[in-house]
Amino acid sequence: MAQEPDALSKRQDYGSVALEDGVLSADPLSQISAWVEEADQAGVYEPNAMVLSTIDPDGEPSSRTVLLRGIDDVGLYFYTDYGSRKGLALLAHPSVSVVFPWYTCLLYTSPSPRDS
Ligand SMILES: Cc1cc2nc3c(=O)[nH]c(=O)nc-3n(C[C@H](O)[C@H](O)[C@H](O)COP(=O)(O)O)c2cc1C
Repeated sequence: MAQEPDALSKRQDYGSVALEDGVLSADPLSQISAWVEEADQAGVYEPNAMVLSTIDPDGEPSSRTVLLRGIDDVGLYFYTDYGSRKGLALLAHPSVSVVFPWYTCLLYTSPSPRDS
């Protein structure tokens, strides 16, 4: 096997970091909004970036980063080209998965449509 880059052996010790009981908003979308703001205040690069996963017309999954541009009672909004690979995938399969990777805040979330 080829020599692996040193970075692959790195792992942070998260200790006992955990979300405390009672600190989460009852509304998941409000909570995401608050966390985006928190990440921004903490200096996270692109605090509104989320990894969006889709399933293409052939059933193949793919993921890429997009920027969150709005949140309301309906859900999360991003801008893209309807003719893009993700646009075509969304036409075939409207279900998606997203992850907000605020790792420098020791936090990430992957909201589900079932949460709202
Ligand atoms: C930080 C960052 C933010 C991005 N934001 C968007 C976005 O809001 N909308 C978008 O269509 N592409 C965005 N892109 C580009 C996508 O990640 C992707 O490369 C491009 O949209 C083509 O994806 P697709 O071929 O899966 O459709 C962003 C890329 C980066 C690195």
